[in-house]
Amino acid sequence: MSNIQQAGTFTLGSHTVKRLGYGAMQLAGPGVFGPPRDHDAALAVLREAVAQGVDHIDTSDFYGPHVTNRLIRQALAPYPKDLVIVTKIGARRGTDGSWLPAFSPEALTQAVHDNLGNLGLEVLDVVNLRIMFDTHGPAEGSIEAPLTVLAELQRKGLVRHIGLSNVTSTQIAEGRRIAEIVCVQNQYNLAHRGDDALIDDLARDGIAYVPFFPLGGFNPLQSSTLSDVAQHLGATPMQVALAWLLRRAPNILLIPGTSSVGHLRENLSAAELELSDDVLGELEGVAMAA
Ligand SMILES: NC(=O)c1ccc[n+]([C@@H]2O[C@H](COP(=O)([O-])OP(=O)(O)OC[C@H]3O[C@@H](n4cnc5c(N)ncnc54)[C@H](OP(=O)(O)O)[C@@H]3O)[C@@H](O)[C@H]2O)c1
Repeated sequence: MSNIQQAGTFTLGSHTVKRLGYGAMQLAGPGVFGPPRDHDAALAVLREAVAQGVDHIDTSDFYGPHVTNRLIRQALAPYPKDLVIVTKIGARRGTDGSWLPAFSPEALTQAVHDNLGNLGLEVLDVVNLRIMFDTHGPAEGSIEAPLTVLAELQRKGLVRHIGLSNVTSTQIAEGRRIAEIVCVQNQYNLAHRGDDALIDDLARDGIAYVPFFPLGGFNPLQSSTLSDVAQHLGATPMQVALAWLLRRAPNILLIPGTSSVGHLRENLSAAELELSDDVLGELEGVAMAA
């Protein structure tokens, strides 16, 4: 069993969570659409995550849709009292599996109720507002209208804490004038470093930064640097990528996604991997090769 405690903890809303968590998106069918290929295997991944000490799971009712939330409920309810389930709203799925914005007050309210119903909860611990001005990356524009709706749902007691996803620093500043923001979830990894300054700013303010695609999108040159470093350390490239994120800043919480118990164990073992300053220097080459 890996000792994920070694990666330390950080505050997420009203809880202190371990910095290595789990992202449930990969549990839905191909393209995050429809049921999993193997239902029992999906339940086993979730149960293993909690057995290994994971206390932070990322999900959304638009994964499937409804699929990952129902799997989480089936596998884990009644939930351990220290488990923080973070969900997100702001998108819906087309009949072809496309990702579409869903920002009207009705759609946002319905999404909160769908998450509550499918997870079997009376209050959602953390809800990220996933901005969809551009599906593939942050794009400027006011988030006041949808965030005000989410803040009202929080005031009614349906949501404990609010986060933002796929946002710019301008939008985070705007958001913080409307509601307390406890976490930001953007794309970031060893090779995709656009949020470097933002992460440091959020760390100073005690706000968690939760990178999505922590393992994704390395080009062949980057992959070969990662593989060389990993081989030298007796680790896997994915473990090195995760260990680098843990070293990068204290407010980074990891939610690597996998549909495999083997990969889950491998990823959680990254908590035990120490990277020397020399290795960190070598890994800077990965970002340069972007
Ligand atoms: N806010 C947003 O817009 C947004 C967008 C995307 C994702 N997310 C969240 O972020 C979480 C993480 O993102 P992600 O799952 O898309 O990407 P990821 O964690 O970067 O990578 C997942 C991919 O890597 C593979 N993988 C995982 N561990 C591996 C290992 N040890 N060795 C080899 N391959 C491995 C998985 O395949 P296997 O299943 O075969 O292991 C899967 O294809 C998601 O689960 C979701 O909760 C949020």
